[in-house]
Amino acid sequence: MSTKSILITGATSGLGLSLFDDYAAQGHQVIACGRNQQQLAAMQSKASQVCQFDMTDKLQIEGAAANVESLDILILNAGNCRYIDDAKNFDGELFADVIQTNLISLGWLLHYFLPKVKKGGQVVFVSSSATLLPFTRSEAYGASKAGMDYLANSLRLDLVKEKIDVTLIHPGFIKTPLTDKNDFPMPFLLTSEEASQRLIQAIEQRKRYAHFPKRLTLLLKFISFLPSFVWQKLILKGSH
Ligand SMILES: NC(=O)c1ccc[n+]([C@@H]2O[C@H](COP(=O)([O-])OP(=O)(O)OC[C@H]3O[C@@H](n4cnc5c(N)ncnc54)[C@H](OP(=O)(O)O)[C@@H]3O)[C@@H](O)[C@H]2O)c1
Repeated sequence: MSTKSILITGATSGLGLSLFDDYAAQGHQVIACGRNQQQLAAMQSKASQVCQFDMTDKLQIEGAAANVESLDILILNAGNCRYIDDAKNFDGELFADVIQTNLISLGWLLHYFLPKVKKGGQVVFVSSSATLLPFTRSEAYGASKAGMDYLANSLRLDLVKEKIDVTLIHPGFIKTPLTDKNDFPMPFLLTSEEASQRLIQAIEQRKRYAHFPKRLTLLLKFISFLPSFVWQKLILKGSH
């Protein structure tokens, strides 16, 4: 197995941290990104490089990218989840914050890091199975991830001529600090270690698209094919 240069955004916590640990244990050169300085410092000995930046700040991304050389794999994993609790009194600030973090920042990450991805390399987008169906309170998170899906699928077409593959991932629920805040049942919850293994396998196989766990994602896909009045009833029933 050849050593690869792999940059992971959101490497300081949850799924990104498990990916970091797994790739570093395999002997790859891993560039860990995040905001949490203390956590990045603790990862320094295993990382080939750590990059501290807030991805909602274009200048910080530009500064971090200036110190990064060529990449085999760019994993766009960092993200945030916040819910719209009162749809009638729609929280525009919250919506803008989630779209800024999960979607707008992707444009700047691609702007500065994509030119560093080698021919034959890969870009990986960590989206969510939440985009398979609309869910209650998910207006902001779901819209940001649906935007990511379109971005990834469109980019894949345009990167064919550059010989760069794009992998889009739809994970189900994973136990991380992001979901520890959830106050609703999360069926088929995976550990971040399990999710990391599935992601790494999909990346190795250079899949265009991967979703897991199948017992959740196939069920969601099946429900999405039913008439909208049926899935609306099912979703509302499940959320009360
Ligand atoms: N957990 C799930 O069930 C689940 C399901 C489907 C999809 N996903 C997706 O998987 C990805 C990872 O989620 P997770 O569950 O591992 O969450 P997490 O434990 O909360 O980790 C989120 C990571 O994103 C980074 N991040 C957030 N905002 C940032 C910003 N403005 N600038 C730079 N870095 C930022 C955090 O870094 P710092 O703390 O250092 O700032 C952290 O490393 C997310 O995109 C999420 O939407 C998660």
